[in-house]
Amino acid sequence: MKVDVIRKLPEHLDTLVLMQEEGGKAEQIEYLPTGLTEQVETLVKAEDFSFAYKSIKSFTQVISGRVQNVILLGAGNKDLLTADKLRSLIAQALRQAARMKAKQIFLFPGFIGPVNDVAFGHVLAETALLVSYRFGKYQSSEKQSTEMESLHYVLNTKNTRHLNRGILEGRIYAEATNLARDMVNEPANVLNPETLAETAKKAALQYGFSVDIYSYDKLKRMKMDAFLAVGRGSAREPRLIIMRYNGSPDRHTETIGLIGKGLTYDSGGYCIKTPQGMVNMKNDMGGAAAVIGAMCAITAMRLKVNVVGIVAACENMISGDAYRAGDILTSMSGKTIEVINTDAEGRLTLCDAIHFAIEKEHADRIVDIATLTGAAVAALGTSFSAVLTNNEAWMEQLKSAAAFTGELVWQLPAHEEYKDMLKSEIADLKNTGAAFAGAITAGLFLKEFIQDKPWLHIDIAGTALKDKESGINSYGATGVGVRLLTSLLRSME
Ligand code: BES
Ligand code: MN
Ligand code: ZN
Repeated sequence: MKVDVIRKLPEHLDTLVLMQEEGGKAEQIEYLPTGLTEQVETLVKAEDFSFAYKSIKSFTQVISGRVQNVILLGAGNKDLLTADKLRSLIAQALRQAARMKAKQIFLFPGFIGPVNDVAFGHVLAETALLVSYRFGKYQSSEKQSTEMESLHYVLNTKNTRHLNRGILEGRIYAEATNLARDMVNEPANVLNPETLAETAKKAALQYGFSVDIYSYDKLKRMKMDAFLAVGRGSAREPRLIIMRYNGSPDRHTETIGLIGKGLTYDSGGYCIKTPQGMVNMKNDMGGAAAVIGAMCAITAMRLKVNVVGIVAACENMISGDAYRAGDILTSMSGKTIEVINTDAEGRLTLCDAIHFAIEKEHADRIVDIATLTGAAVAALGTSFSAVLTNNEAWMEQLKSAAAFTGELVWQLPAHEEYKDMLKSEIADLKNTGAAFAGAITAGLFLKEFIQDKPWLHIDIAGTALKDKESGINSYGATGVGVRLLTSLLRSME
């Protein structure tokens, strides 16, 4: 989908979106074709339409034998607009446009708001590409009869440099997010540890970061036995995916480790899930997809940072060789873990991935991102990702990044006393806590492997999926984390 800024209008306007602040007049909208101004004013008066925030009104008319759609979009108080509010406004207009089978959309703003040109361009392109995403490859009759072709921002300015830079950025963010969505939506009979690794390789080649894939023998030699135990019940071998990007060749720059949970399927293992609990478990590699997507965006943005992305990809299945509840595993770090529940597998893969990132890839900081606990969903629902940290200053940076991208985060306490719940009588740690505070104890388990490096832990169990389209998200994977991680790293340049 094309997104650009234009001054000269073509003769026929397929679909117009008139975005105005509350109480604003149609005549304040520049370039509005004659006739429409009056028409809109009449309608606004007759229907008491005030352009309140997120109010929307649309109609269709025939102009010299051609159909034209008009959408009135209320922006509310323009001074209160933020990048994310703008994102939901534009998403709302585009969804309405799609229902009206719009092909070419012309966005006319009636005001200048507080969002700067780069951010505005970014949001415009990002929203257009995120809203038009659909995972349609397995439907023989393509449901989307019309596809939006273009979004034109109509503005009386020659100085489009900042807007265009923003559009370029927004495109990078959205394309990387859609790549992540594709991976997450792909079912586990297609996307397994090996094909996930292949996907990462392809992305690396296309975007220009480097990648290494380690298979069983190498993982065994490195003693990643917690990770290997989880994958042992599967007929498909695990893979460790290592991605590197060096945007700051100065030796003194920190290396930031991004660790993504990569369970291509989570049956629960011998502590098997219910059928209902299992349907969405092809999505248990949402953290991995976020990391791979972020590597793409960070590389395309040429950020001056050094990043290593690690994904321990495997499948939690059942077989005569699968790991059991009661097993004691020795993790790569040497810490032993008593398995209480084979369904608390994510942390077993992540603890080895984190240790690997610190010891072998010299990561100075760690962000891990994972569809880790149902408890995070119970606590925060599906709008907020849960975050734990040992570094409040870094947490603030994450919150700012989240405010820009609209991927909401909420901090949970990394309460040290809760660590007692992970004490084992016979090993260094247990892999589950008690009945309560499951999202916190999962985080505290990982904290045992951080070696006091600055650490952010993002639990996306609730935010990785949508069961129906809304805003920038369509049904299925959201690609959460790609834009968040990219923006976080951007604030660390
Ligand atoms: N992948 C699941 C967590 C999950 C649940 C993600 C729902 C998305 C939606 C994870 O591996 C898991 O099974 N966690 C258990 C942990 C428990 C056994 C301590 C859970 O949350 O029930
Ligand atoms: Mn599980
Ligand atoms: Zn899982």
